Amino acid sequence: MSDQEKSAILSGIEMGIGTWSWGDRMIWNYGNGYDYEDIHQAFNSAVDFGFRFFDTAEIYGQGRSESYLGNFMQGSSDQLVIASKFMPYPWRLSSGSLGKALRASLKRLKLERISLYQMHQSFPPVKIDTWMGQMAAVVHEGLVQAVGVSNYDLQQTLQAHNSLIREGLRLASTQMEYSLLNRRIEKTGLLDLCKEQGITVIAYSPLAMGMLTGKYTPGHPPSGYRSTKYPSGFLKKIMPLIAEMKRIGLEHEGKTPAQVALNWIICKGAIPIPGGKNPRQIEESAGALGWYLTGDEIKTLDDLSDRILEN
Ligand SMILES: NC(=O)c1ccc[n+]([C@@H]2O[C@H](COP(=O)([O-])OP(=O)(O)OC[C@H]3O[C@@H](n4cnc5c(N)ncnc54)[C@H](OP(=O)(O)O)[C@@H]3O)[C@@H](O)[C@H]2O)c1
Repeated sequence: MSDQEKSAILSGIEMGIGTWSWGDRMIWNYGNGYDYEDIHQAFNSAVDFGFRFFDTAEIYGQGRSESYLGNFMQGSSDQLVIASKFMPYPWRLSSGSLGKALRASLKRLKLERISLYQMHQSFPPVKIDTWMGQMAAVVHEGLVQAVGVSNYDLQQTLQAHNSLIREGLRLASTQMEYSLLNRRIEKTGLLDLCKEQGITVIAYSPLAMGMLTGKYTPGHPPSGYRSTKYPSGFLKKIMPLIAEMKRIGLEHEGKTPAQVALNWIICKGAIPIPGGKNPRQIEESAGALGWYLTGDEIKTLDDLSDRILEN
C-alpha cells in the first residue's frame, strides 16, 4: 500500500508499538520479569528511535496500559499518534456506552482527543451500523480523529466502511492478527480489499507473541498462555522457518529473525505493532526499519510459512 493510500492519520508510519503487556498480569505476567520502570524506558526508547504510533485498549491490564501510556506521554512533547479500542461487551447496550468508555480512556490517557479509536471486536447483539453511528458521533464531537475496527472479517469490514461513508466518514484502519504464522487476511481477501479501499491494515501479534524471535524452541518453550497457544510440537514445526529467517537476516547485515518478521509485514503493506516490554526489545524492533527484503526472500518465507500453516 503506498503512503497516499494510507489513511491520513497513519500516513508516513511504517511501524508502531503495541502496549498490551504494559500492566497486563493475566497473559503477560506484568510485574514478573519486567515492571513499570522497564516499560517507561521502553516508551522513552521508542520515542528516541522515532516511533510515533502507540496502540493500546481499555481492556489492557484493566486500564493500566492506557494509564501508564498517559503518564509516560506527560514528559514527551512529540506529536504522537495514539490508538485505543472500545470493547463492545454484550451488556453495553445503551446509546451512550461508546462515548462513556471513550471519555474514560481519554481520562486515563490524559488526552483531550484520540488519534484513532477502534472497535476491538464484532460481538453481538449491537449491530455494526449502530456502533459506527456512535463512532461518527464522537468524531463529530471532536473527541476522535479517525475510526478503526479490529477482528472484523471481510464482510464486517465492508459493512463498517459503508456505514461510515453514509456518515460522511471513512474507515481508517483494521487491526488484525498478521504474521508469518497467521496469514488469514491474505487468504480471505481482506488484505486485498483494504488495499483497494485505502483502509490501513495494522498487524497485531506480528512476532506471533514472541515465537518468531527465535527465542523459543521445543527445548525452551514459553510459559503460561503462550505454552497452550504455541505448544512444543508447533515450535518444532517452525524451526526451519526460523533457520531461514536467520540466514536471510545475515544477508542484511545481521538482522535478527524478529527484524525479518517485522520487515516481511512492512513489505506486505501493513503496519506491524510489536509489543515491547523493555528498551532492548524496542531497539530490536527499530532495526526492522530502513531496509527491505527482496522479492525472492519474501517468496521463500511465504513458501516456508505456507508449509507450516497447511499442515
Ligand atoms: N486487536 C487485538 O485484538 C489485539 C490482539 C493482540 C495484540 N494486539 C496488539 O498488538 C500488539 C502486539 O502483539 P502481541 O503483544 O500480542 O505480540 P508480539 O508483538 O507478536 O510479541 C510481543 C512479545 O514478543 C517478545 N519479544 C521478543 N523480542 C522482542 C522484540 N524484539 N520486540 C518485541 N517483542 C519481543 C516479548 O515477550 P517475551 O519477552 O515475554 O518473549 C513481547 O512481549 C499488542 O501489544 C497490542 O497492542 C491487538
